[in-house]
Amino acid sequence: MKVFRSKSAVRAQLADWRPAPIVLVPTMGFLHEGHLSLMRLARERAGSEGRVVASIFVNPTQFGPGEDFDSYPRDEARDFDLLRAEGMDAVFSPEADEIYDPQAETIVETTELGKVLIGKLRPGHFRGVATIVTKLFNIIRPDAAIFGQKDYQQLAVIRTIVRDLDMDIEIIGAPIQREADGLAMSSRNVRLSPEDRAAAPVLARALDEAETMAPTGITASRLRSHVRARLEAEPRARVQSVDIRDAATLTPVSGSLTRPAVILLAVSFGQVFVIDNRVVYPAQEVP
Ligand code: PAJ
Repeated sequence: MKVFRSKSAVRAQLADWRPAPIVLVPTMGFLHEGHLSLMRLARERAGSEGRVVASIFVNPTQFGPGEDFDSYPRDEARDFDLLRAEGMDAVFSPEADEIYDPQAETIVETTELGKVLIGKLRPGHFRGVATIVTKLFNIIRPDAAIFGQKDYQQLAVIRTIVRDLDMDIEIIGAPIQREADGLAMSSRNVRLSPEDRAAAPVLARALDEAETMAPTGITASRLRSHVRARLEAEPRARVQSVDIRDAATLTPVSGSLTRPAVILLAVSFGQVFVIDNRVVYPAQEVP
């Protein structure tokens, strides 16, 4: 596996590999099984001819003031070993000053989608994500890129910028990988205290119940109240938001579900922000 620190070096390598298809998996490192499932999907999508590239970059512009940029977990040597074991062809792992020009003044922003839900809790977050992902797409110029459904709104934002800015890149969404007790895997989970770690699977349990209730004709607002009450029954959980939105457009839904909906949860445990989501279906649409 080749390691690249500079834009020019990774571009030279990719020029050499093309026209083989290039599949990119962007990450912020501290890799876990969730990330590695994306690498495997990338390998499958690339086929025997294609090349798979991961990026590791803890992107400062998607963290707000007072968020956890400085304490975000990092372990590059371990990440490289894991990527090598997955058969990745290359990793692009630059420093921030390689990525952002001190004179930079251009941003990429979805004007609606990036401001709702997590965008409301973390102002500017999706602007940082949309800008870095656009830059990575321009540096690597992949044929396809893989993102996890764990970050459901992020995936929607990326699909939107690709559509709106005519990027010729296939975006592939990958299923959420979970710990044995249901907690969605996340690099931030290591920062949960043992007590909070034990309490955190309440998100997955609340989503399991909601998934069972959705096809019964229950209204979105009752379903939301049920999920919220379930989360609030856990004393260690500080519920930040519970939303039920149209699964395709993320617009609000009301009344009994008529189309697939996504339930989006954001809960803090101490200083750690935990998110999870589940697509649920009305009776006539259970897949
Ligand atoms: P990061 O949080 O490192 O996640 C990298 C990718 O892994 C994302 O597409 C995320 O959705 C996916 N992922 C994380 N946990 C997952 C899980 N449990 N199951 C499946 N996929 C999972 O998301 C980012 O980095 C950044 O915002 C980034 C897109 C790299 C831009 O900086």
